[in-house]
Amino acid sequence: MKLQNRVAVITGAGAGIGRFSALEFAKEGALVVVADINHIGALQTAGLIEAQGGTALAIGADVADPASVERLVDLTLRRFGQVNVLFNNAAVQVNKTVEDTTFEEWNREIAVNLGGVFLCSKYFLPELRKTRGCIVNMSSVNGFFVEPFCAGYCATKAAIIGLTKAMAIDHGKEGIRVNCICPGYIDAGLAEGYFLAQPDPDAARASAGKLHALWRIGRPEEVGRAAVFLASDAASFVTGASLVVDGGFGSGLPPAL
Ligand SMILES: NC(=O)c1ccc[n+]([C@@H]2O[C@H](COP(=O)([O-])OP(=O)(O)OC[C@H]3O[C@@H](n4cnc5c(N)ncnc54)[C@H](O)[C@@H]3O)[C@@H](O)[C@H]2O)c1
Repeated sequence: MKLQNRVAVITGAGAGIGRFSALEFAKEGALVVVADINHIGALQTAGLIEAQGGTALAIGADVADPASVERLVDLTLRRFGQVNVLFNNAAVQVNKTVEDTTFEEWNREIAVNLGGVFLCSKYFLPELRKTRGCIVNMSSVNGFFVEPFCAGYCATKAAIIGLTKAMAIDHGKEGIRVNCICPGYIDAGLAEGYFLAQPDPDAARASAGKLHALWRIGRPEEVGRAAVFLASDAASFVTGASLVVDGGFGSGLPPAL
């Protein structure tokens, strides 16, 4: 097992990629803290982990709220006593142009997607320093290649790539590795929301696979396995990296939007 008895905190693990990542981490022996603003979703994920024989703790937490993140650290330590991996996965996506995005939507998207990485890293770093642990951040191919009608989202995902490199430089000498993952379209909540926001959601969903060289969109567990790799000793000399997990996004047909 690649993560035997490592304590892994995964944000946004109450659904989608976070949930499937939590299951992959647990299969590799990790003790998983399932953190999500949707506490019921987090409890469901923890139940799935326990049903497969793993160990999980569900915590309702808002990554954009400093007090909530401090509580997340506290509850994690009370139950497991240490932290080895922080996977900053939680995000929201406003499917609008800058002109159509309200100031409130903009602030919330920045606060959750980028602020959440900042806050969770800030409050977990003292613990990660003790274990020479690691951080995995969730970016996107939208950090490199933008798409229409999700300007704020693309901005946060590009910023996460920069923040990942900056944290890798700052904390490498302490033995802490910091990397990010850049998935293509994955069959999970945010992609589905993007399809539903298009004029013809069925056509957008049907054509999305063809944007990838493999002519399909990804499965959430395929991203979860990449996160396991980055969190494991197999990636012991990998830091500051952006691991693209995109089935060859951009090598397929142009978008039919
Ligand atoms: N689905 C895709 O195609 C895709 C592609 C590239 C990158 N990503 C990234 O993967 C991650 C997960 O996306 P997904 O598609 O699985 O989304 P999802 O909507 O299925 O899951 C996101 C989870 O984050 C939680 N969340 C939202 N705001 C939160 C907050 N403030 N605090 C704590 N939890 C919060 C939600 O409750 C939800 O359970 C995101 O960072 C997203 O940007 C997704």
